[in-house]
Amino acid sequence: MTTRKLGRGVAVVGAGMSRFGTFKDHDTRDLFVEAFREMRASVDKGLDPGAIEALFIGNYSSELFEGQGHTAPIMADWTGLTPRPATRVEDACASSGVALRQGIMAIASGLHDVVLVGGIEKMSNLPITNVTDTLATAGDVLYEIPAGFTFPGFYAAMATAYMHRYGASPDALLRVGIKNHDNGKLNPKAQFQSRIADLMAARMAKALQKGLPPPGWADEMDFLRDDAANPMIAWPLRLFDCSPVTDGASALLLVSDDLARSFSDNPIYIIGTGQASDAALHDRPELTGLAAAQLAGRQAYDMAGVTPRDIKIAEVHDCFTIAEIIATEDLGFFAPGQGHEAAEEGLTARHGPRPVNTSGGLKSKGHPVGASGAAQVVEVWKQMRGEAGERQVARDVDLALTHNVGGTGQTCVVHIFERR
Ligand code: COA
Repeated sequence: MTTRKLGRGVAVVGAGMSRFGTFKDHDTRDLFVEAFREMRASVDKGLDPGAIEALFIGNYSSELFEGQGHTAPIMADWTGLTPRPATRVEDACASSGVALRQGIMAIASGLHDVVLVGGIEKMSNLPITNVTDTLATAGDVLYEIPAGFTFPGFYAAMATAYMHRYGASPDALLRVGIKNHDNGKLNPKAQFQSRIADLMAARMAKALQKGLPPPGWADEMDFLRDDAANPMIAWPLRLFDCSPVTDGASALLLVSDDLARSFSDNPIYIIGTGQASDAALHDRPELTGLAAAQLAGRQAYDMAGVTPRDIKIAEVHDCFTIAEIIATEDLGFFAPGQGHEAAEEGLTARHGPRPVNTSGGLKSKGHPVGASGAAQVVEVWKQMRGEAGERQVARDVDLALTHNVGGTGQTCVVHIFERR
């Protein structure tokens, strides 16, 4: 592999996101304005929006979700940024991770010095069956969808293959959900701000209140193994193995590295970027890893000149719990087949040796698909600057990674960040 370097350095000097959840009275433009305002307030030395030269906005399917196409110029208009060029980027759930890469390339090439990168999605307008059908268009509608696949179904196939190959137990999946809900509880922007243990206690209290016999769950694992409490969605994936249906937006300010200190006291430099593509799931030789993620990771590590061992925290694409386990292997944190044991042993917990998804991840923070990739960077930004509040990890986070997946891995994009 030829080692690639950016034409010039790029830094993140501002980051913000809207609340994630389901919001009847907000559409994507409202949510994007909310994210933009938070991003603007996070720029230490202030931001004159007039300095922004271009926008790259990740958005998967506003046509089907909201009946609105051509969304990037609307975001420019609602943030007062017209007539700057505004470009929509669509790569399914990796849309804003790829928008970030487009922003990086625009600055590295010398075309622009200051760029706004964002992501938007408003999923909750549609009933769940239509949401499922809309998401399924990120699969292969010629070969996969007619065979009955949905997104939970795709990842269930990967989970089944993984469990068969490595002897993993479904309990490993449940552990990922418990960890990410633990982290999400500490994230005021998260869709679910409850630990699984809290949800279990609430269910028990409700049963008591209704005079029903108390459910006999011994602990949260017992709760999650109960079909009544945690119904099967697509075997072996249950409700608490799935990311939810979410509305939300995210925004990042990128500048060339020579300008970074004029915007920020504590810029975060982007030192590695990688992106790769792959065939749809039905056409791959194996289902237990994502070749595109492995390649994107290698490109990013190579550009950054670092190894997986150097990374202090990672936000990975846990659209389903199995996806987090596979990601930790694809990125080289654990050897193939060992990610499930690492999850069961708590190695990826917030205060473990390899913290993964301190934000709550897609599972608990929520997954407005086009906004998720840039929102991962918001968490990295906060953790690297020591601004993550109650969920701040104890270690010094000088190197961090984000991993964003489109579809079942047809698009994967990985970024590495450094605090100097
Ligand atoms: N995790 C935990 N709880 C969830 C949840 C999730 N993913 N989704 C919904 N819930 C909760 C709701 O808050 C609600 O709780 P309450 O009864 O206490 O209020 C309850 O479960 C029922 O919610 P509802 O909205 O009726 O669920 P649903 O059946 O419509 O949707 C899924 C559940 C799993 C089908 C839906 O979340 C889903 O499709 N997720 C996958 C999304 C996806 O594929 N994204 C792209 C990935 S690549």
